[in-house]
Amino acid sequence: MHSLILYSTRDGQTLKIARYIAECLAADNQACDVIDLGQVGQCELERYDRVLIGAAIRYGRFAAELHDFIKQHLDWLNRLPSAFFAVNLTARKADKRTPQTNAYTRKFLAATPWRPDSCAVFAGALRYPRYRWFDRVMIQLIMRMTGGETDSSKEIEYTDWQQVDDFARDFAGLTGKSGFKSRETHQFVEN
Ligand SMILES: Cc1cc2nc3c(=O)[nH]c(=O)nc-3n(C[C@H](O)[C@H](O)[C@H](O)COP(=O)(O)O)c2cc1C
Repeated sequence: MHSLILYSTRDGQTLKIARYIAECLAADNQACDVIDLGQVGQCELERYDRVLIGAAIRYGRFAAELHDFIKQHLDWLNRLPSAFFAVNLTARKADKRTPQTNAYTRKFLAATPWRPDSCAVFAGALRYPRYRWFDRVMIQLIMRMTGGETDSSKEIEYTDWQQVDDFARDFAGLTGKSGFKSRETHQFVEN
């Protein structure tokens, strides 16, 4: 199986997770390419047997490039074994870290015509010193409202790497369209 991992990131955490999953596949002797969703134009999609897309949330939304890609390649996506992961800070709370309990992911899955076979939600990173002034103030406000870290000198990575590892193993074993399966961390979506 030759896998393609596509990612949509602004600050790098989604890429870090995508690369980690690629390393898990490589350790299992599985070929894998990691490509920026915004640079996928020239990529020969038909070379791949399996696809994973990871995307970060910013101000309540996934990037437009995610929606555009799905619209342009829907038949291909629904033909291949495929999976999706979302990255956001709401998921720093364990009870907001499943496709059902993470509102961004639940709404995305309900609205998209893409039917990924597997889905996960990962907590991202909070990196105040790297944000521009406006973003830093906005994130601080959201963190204050939701009981999170407000010290703007802090950089905190909330990603649970064991959860990513488990998801990577599941993805490595995804060899066909699997239809509906219910699991706490990897909710498979009904076709
Ligand atoms: C400007 C900005 C807006 C964000 N908006 C949200 C949000 O609405 N909800 C949320 O849960 N996380 C939000 N986050 C947190 C990001 O999803 C988190 O930092 C993630 O790790 C970013 O992924 P990336 O590094 O791949 O871009 C925001 C972060 C920034 C910097």
